[in-house]
Amino acid sequence: MKSANIVPVQHLVTSEQRWRINGHRGGILWLTGLSASGKSTLALELERRLVLVERRAYVLDGDSIRGGLSSDLGFCAADRNENIRRVGEVAALFARAGIICITAFISPFHADRDRVRAAAPGLFHEIWVKADLEVCERRDPKGLYVKARDGEIPDFTGISSPYEEPKSPELIIETNRMSIEDCVDRLVTYAEETFSLRG
Ligand SMILES: Nc1ncnc2c1ncn2[C@@H]1O[C@H](COP(=O)(O)OP(=O)(O)O)[C@@H](O)[C@H]1O
Ligand SMILES: [Mg+2]
Repeated sequence: MKSANIVPVQHLVTSEQRWRINGHRGGILWLTGLSASGKSTLALELERRLVLVERRAYVLDGDSIRGGLSSDLGFCAADRNENIRRVGEVAALFARAGIICITAFISPFHADRDRVRAAAPGLFHEIWVKADLEVCERRDPKGLYVKARDGEIPDFTGISSPYEEPKSPELIIETNRMSIEDCVDRLVTYAEETFSLRG
């Protein structure tokens, strides 16, 4: 922290009050995985399904954040660290405001994900959206793997930059074994269990 003389404010509203208004707790569903593993597809479908049953859910997606909050950052390791730090802080704010914040970022490094977990104690749920590199490369919905193989995209996760697999994620969704619908059903069940006011 660079700034001195910081005294955080104390809210006069409790988390429980916010949860009661929303009908559920807030938290972070942190989707991590290779490019084309299915993070955005599942995040947006999960958001749709939760809002349909009147849950307050909101997606933060890599490509959107990189157009705004992180438009000054690239993809070298230091910029990826900073991108995830910012997103983690924003997701923690959403979670404390009582929202179910669904994030869709490759977030390839353990240290970055662990730092977000530490910044949002008790609120962070790491969900590994898992698919083999070959499957992702075959899907290649945005043609990025082709470009990465041609050397047009430096530091591309899985090709020229590492993906550190989660060691003990709260949930693993294997998108090369299950249909999109089954993956989303599993995520909805997990969200309902996790953010329920009962239990
Ligand atoms: N079970 C599945 N879950 C998610 N996506 C899947 C699944 N099976 C196939 N796909 C396809 O894989 C692609 C994933 O792309 P995308 O969601 O943009 O990935 P990411 O955001 O992780 O880069 C989409 O074209 C999607 O239709
Ligand atoms: Mg995506």
